[in-house]
Amino acid sequence: MTESESIAREIRALLKERNAILLAHNYQRPEIQDVADLTGDSLELSIKAAKTDADVIVFCGVHFMSETASIVSPDKTVLMPRPDAGCPMADMITPEALKTRLAELGDMPVVTYVNSTASVKAHSTICCTSANAVAVVNSLAEDEILMTPDRNLSQYVASKTSKKIHYWDGYCPIHDRLSAEQVLNTKAAHPEALFMAHPECRPEVLALADAILSTSGMLDFAERSDKESFIVGTEEGLIYPLQKANPNKSFYRASEAMVCEDMKLTTLGDVLTAISDMTYEVKVSEDVRIHASRAVERMLEITGKLDD
Ligand code: 13P
Ligand code: SF4
Repeated sequence: MTESESIAREIRALLKERNAILLAHNYQRPEIQDVADLTGDSLELSIKAAKTDADVIVFCGVHFMSETASIVSPDKTVLMPRPDAGCPMADMITPEALKTRLAELGDMPVVTYVNSTASVKAHSTICCTSANAVAVVNSLAEDEILMTPDRNLSQYVASKTSKKIHYWDGYCPIHDRLSAEQVLNTKAAHPEALFMAHPECRPEVLALADAILSTSGMLDFAERSDKESFIVGTEEGLIYPLQKANPNKSFYRASEAMVCEDMKLTTLGDVLTAISDMTYEVKVSEDVRIHASRAVERMLEITGKLDD
């Protein structure tokens, strides 16, 4: 047995002992995805966190994801093996700056991407993820909306709705750095491949896409497609589950530079320490949680999946 296999076995035994569930985002290291109970995109992981009977949720992802689990499951212990794993985009907005912008724009609903802090969610009308952003915006009665914090996701939604979308000037540094030129070069090298892009990419990159999808949307699309090869316009961690689920298909990185350092921080050793020492707990204060949970639960109601 390799060292990784032996750590994974210890993790699984401790998870059982503590009635804990291990959730991992699709960008996590392969060995973390392999040991997890569930992998998925932000929407799937929020739903799973809301529905689990486990006493403990160990979340392998970045800080806002553990906060979301704490928001929807206040009675559970939420552990984050690497509390230093943050999201630069989530840090591009504060509640104070949001209030100032709203005062300038006038009263309107605020749709906030789940890639945001709990305190920003607490000042928002409703949350959205990359998988449900268009449906969330279209579910609102108002015709004018402020979307935060991702300008690229907001502009994508604006192209799919008749509503007027004001947007925050935040962005994911990993997706925003993919240029149209890089995509065209990769397409030239693999002319037969379909290009799947994440809505966090820039508009000119999305214009070149055959499909614009969340990470789990890409997994689903590649599996269902009768095409054999795909260019992947998202963080490189997704290549592992894509290749695992489709061993006979080919997946090419749109660019070698799409690596989220924060998503790669968590190691198997960190997960073992987290579950054996019950560290590091992420707990959103009750005041913030009450307000943030309205925005998250409103989103979950719209996706209609809580009752499944
Ligand atoms: P999804 O997996 O929800 O598409 O999110 C992408 C992302 O950047 C998460 O940090
Ligand atoms: Fe944040 Fe982008 Fe990393 Fe996702 S990939 S955690 S949005 S920086």
